[in-house]
Amino acid sequence: MPKSNLATSTIQISGPIPGPRAQSILDRRDATTVRGLYRSCPIVAASASGATVTDVDGNVFIDLAGGIGTLNAGHCPPEVTQAIHDQVDKLIHLSNIVGTYESMVQLNEKLHEIVPIRGPKKTLLCNSGVEAGENAVKIARYATGRQGIIVFEGAFHGRSLLGMTMTSKYALFKRGFGPFASEVYRVPFPYEYREKPSGMSTDDFCELRINDLKKALVAQIDPTSVAAVIIEPVQGEGGFIPAPPAYMRALRELTDQYGILLASDEVQTGFCRTGKMFAIEHTPGCGTQWDVDMVIMAKSIGSGLPIAAVTGKAEVMDKPHVGGLGSTFGGNPVACAGAVATIDYMRENNLADRANEIGAITLDYFRRWQAKHAAIGDVRCIGAMCALEFVTDRETKEPNSVLPPLIVEEAFQRGLIMIRAGLYGSCLRLLAPLVISDAQLHEAMQALESAIDAAVLRAKTA
Ligand SMILES: Cc1ncc(COP(=O)(O)O)c(C=O)c1O
Repeated sequence: MPKSNLATSTIQISGPIPGPRAQSILDRRDATTVRGLYRSCPIVAASASGATVTDVDGNVFIDLAGGIGTLNAGHCPPEVTQAIHDQVDKLIHLSNIVGTYESMVQLNEKLHEIVPIRGPKKTLLCNSGVEAGENAVKIARYATGRQGIIVFEGAFHGRSLLGMTMTSKYALFKRGFGPFASEVYRVPFPYEYREKPSGMSTDDFCELRINDLKKALVAQIDPTSVAAVIIEPVQGEGGFIPAPPAYMRALRELTDQYGILLASDEVQTGFCRTGKMFAIEHTPGCGTQWDVDMVIMAKSIGSGLPIAAVTGKAEVMDKPHVGGLGSTFGGNPVACAGAVATIDYMRENNLADRANEIGAITLDYFRRWQAKHAAIGDVRCIGAMCALEFVTDRETKEPNSVLPPLIVEEAFQRGLIMIRAGLYGSCLRLLAPLVISDAQLHEAMQALESAIDAAVLRAKTA
């Protein structure tokens, strides 16, 4: 296997990987951990910093998975670890159902500065993305007195019973786990690459998809029974598919027309990933001329700590009765301190701008690879939310789900940590920490190019 041992390079691989220590821990993982827990690659991490992970055998990798989009501020940013250390020595837990500590209030205040919702806001802190999404549904149902929830094809909202119900991609996430929760309805997402008829404008395609939703409000559920529409402004698991601004505005108009709440699931898109603090801000006028009712957040909010939030319009958020919301750990002091420091770090270091720079460099490589390989059907970078979509035929766009796992395997051998995505498993997604240096990014792109070349060759000769 090619090795990257240049003195100037970040990636350092010595010997076969996984190495002996890693392999013995992997064997113990397999013996003790449920089979249902997938792992993308055989990295066994000992430590990490910025955009790199060092494994237990001393090999150094560049991380293009970023903890599935959790490490926008990088691995262990010193300002964040310091804040965690300071807090952990003073107070680890009280429960905000029992009492109050300042870090939870600070985090709420910080979120109210950055979440692009107009007017007074309120926040509920939670432990994970799926829990924040579930609470958004509870609040929407309580506030409207309606039960219906509308979600999208290709959506991912987590793995609890309700989260799984709202999630698409049946075979991987839902098979064998039913019955699912009731009153969840699904409509097509504006997936331009795969579903926009050729020659049709983006605006016309958005109208087509809005008409699908209008039809659902006749064929599936009455609009007066719908509490909320929950949308990922850029689908994450679905393959990094952006909803065009024209769709977002039309969706807001339609939901307003029927008194339906609109919630943006920014679990994967939030906190600078797409080149804005939140992906809804790509639609002009967000936060000034229009807004959503709730924003669901998790992942990069806390640099890897289990912390999540739902922030929304105060008049909606304050509807549920006292005692109706909460959890033992939600917004615990240590996680809150880490999240406050993370948000400060992101703002002070302009990570949203950096995401755009990373996206521009990456897209350059992607376009060159697309010219070289017929199997690359589409390339997408929304800020630093970058994906390659593979096909077996560019005309028919038949999904190619064979190449992505081969590329992840080849990339690992070249010192990269990577993950896949897509309704059909036909995408590779890049979620590099936004603190990656230009030199590291170029090094990672060169390694990835070599991995793609090797995987394409393997697929041809298989
Ligand atoms: C858009 C979106 N919503 C919700 C979730 C669920 O978050 P968690 O895994 O923290 O429960 C995810 C996780 O990938 C996600 O990408």
